[in-house]
Amino acid sequence: MSHTERLPRIRTYLMCAPEHFTVEYAINPWMDVTVPVDPELAVKQWQILRDTLTDLGHTVHVLEPVPGLPDMVYAANGAFSVDGKVYGARFKHPQRADEAAAHKAFYAGGPWTFADPVHVNEGEGDFAYLPAAYGGLILAGHGFRTDPAAHAEAQEVLGRPVISLKLVDPAFYHLDVALAALDDENVTYYPGAFSESSQRVLAQLFPDAVIADRADAEAFGLNLVSDGKHVVLNTEATALGEKIRAAGYTPVHVDLSELKLGGGSVKCVVAELRP
Ligand code: ARG
Repeated sequence: MSHTERLPRIRTYLMCAPEHFTVEYAINPWMDVTVPVDPELAVKQWQILRDTLTDLGHTVHVLEPVPGLPDMVYAANGAFSVDGKVYGARFKHPQRADEAAAHKAFYAGGPWTFADPVHVNEGEGDFAYLPAAYGGLILAGHGFRTDPAAHAEAQEVLGRPVISLKLVDPAFYHLDVALAALDDENVTYYPGAFSESSQRVLAQLFPDAVIADRADAEAFGLNLVSDGKHVVLNTEATALGEKIRAAGYTPVHVDLSELKLGGGSVKCVVAELRP
């Protein structure tokens, strides 16, 4: 199979070390408070992911982890930025509410226009941006965390069309465990995570999408970070890695077994900053 050569674009990311990571409450079906977490291993795996991204030439900024916010490692949930504008997060669960302020403080230190949200939304957990699709398109999930009213709010704040997609399977409670941008215009997704109407919308918008199956999604393969060429995804997701390779991208596998205990993987812990 021949593809136009996939070209990487240098990115800027924001991550937060899992120094205080535990599973002490369960707000998604993957979290089990009776299964112990190895915090040292979690930090080691996180460092390898950070180094993988910097070795690929990307810049990684870090947020200072806050004690008492065990899910703060999932930095993707703290905000959503497009072209220098930032739509802040407002978490659904009170256990995570205070994370939003830490993210807001980070953006205050840079050249960002920050908008406080009225509606519940979990940042890049439920929002994805495709700068070259239809002139710049935002995909947004609802059904478990983000309020659909936040989709309209994001469109007003960010000035890009927002396509609302309904998530229907509690195992895939955020958009970023069901769908990922592979480059500036194409996605990979697991159709079964979406309502039938939303599946139709995705099929219409993305005829060249890499289609994942349930096993790929359960391995958290879709919770990936791509620079347009290198697709960083977890070690369990070998089958999706091969599908992605067949589409001309280069899979780069990293082990994030500890962070899976909180219900997340690569993408959940990496926020992309779009100045
Ligand atoms: N324990 C966290 C929660 O349930 C995991 C968040 C995962 N992040 C993500 N972007 N999907 O909120």
